[in-house]
Amino acid sequence: MKSRLLTSSLIAIFALAAATTSSAAVNGPGPTSVKHHSKLDLSALLGNDKDTESSSPADATPGDGHSHADHGDDSSADVVFIAVISPTAGNEAAGTIYFQKVEGGMKVWGTIEGLTPGDHGFHVHQYGDVSAADGTSAGGHFNPQSQPHAGPDDAHRHVGDLGNITANENGVAEISFIDNELSMEGKNSILGRGLIVHADADDLTSQPTGAAGPRVGMAVIGVANPKDLQ
Ligand code: CU
Ligand code: ZN
Repeated sequence: MKSRLLTSSLIAIFALAAATTSSAAVNGPGPTSVKHHSKLDLSALLGNDKDTESSSPADATPGDGHSHADHGDDSSADVVFIAVISPTAGNEAAGTIYFQKVEGGMKVWGTIEGLTPGDHGFHVHQYGDVSAADGTSAGGHFNPQSQPHAGPDDAHRHVGDLGNITANENGVAEISFIDNELSMEGKNSILGRGLIVHADADDLTSQPTGAAGPRVGMAVIGVANPKDLQ
C-alpha cells in the first residue's frame, strides 16, 4: 500500500516536473534531472513547511532553557564563565575575570593587575584566539548585532563593549558590574570569545574601537571549573 502510494505520487511528480521543466530537460539524461526538479517543485507546490521546520530547531537551540532542569549542574543559572588574562608581548596585565548570569543581565567581576594607573578599554572581542603575541588575533569587538561602537550603557553598542576598567595607583583594577547585553547562550553568547584589556581609555565614541590603543592583556572566555569557585 505504502509503496503503491509512493509510486503513484512519484508518477505525479514526474508528470508535474516534466510539465514544468519540459524545455529545460532536453539535453540531460532525463530521469535524474527531472527527479531533482520535481523535488524542488513539490515542496514549492505543497507550500512545504520543511523550511520552517528545519530553521526553527536551530533558532530554538540557544533558548532551550526549558530543559535546563534536566541537566543539573549544567544549568546556565549555575554556570560561571572564566577568562584568565595573560599579558601580551611586552606588557604585564594579568588577572582573572568571571561571568555569571544574574537578575538583569550578566555579572562580571574579578581583578586585573599589572596595568598603568587610570582607565583601560575593556571588551569582549570576536575571537577567543590568543595566538598573536600582540592580541590582534582576537579580532574586533564582538558585534553579533551589527551595531556601532559605544559604551556599555548605550542602547546601540557592540555586545562586547564593556567600557573601561580603572586601575589604581598600584596598577590594580577591581572589577564588578552587571551588563545587560552579554549572554551565555544564543547569538550574544560570549563563550569562546576573547576578552581584551587595552593600554588606553575607551572614549566610547570613536569607531570602531573607542581608540583604546594596543592590547595589553588577553584571554579566552571558557567555562569555569566549579571546584575552583569554592
Ligand atoms: Cu578591545
Ligand atoms: Zn566596540
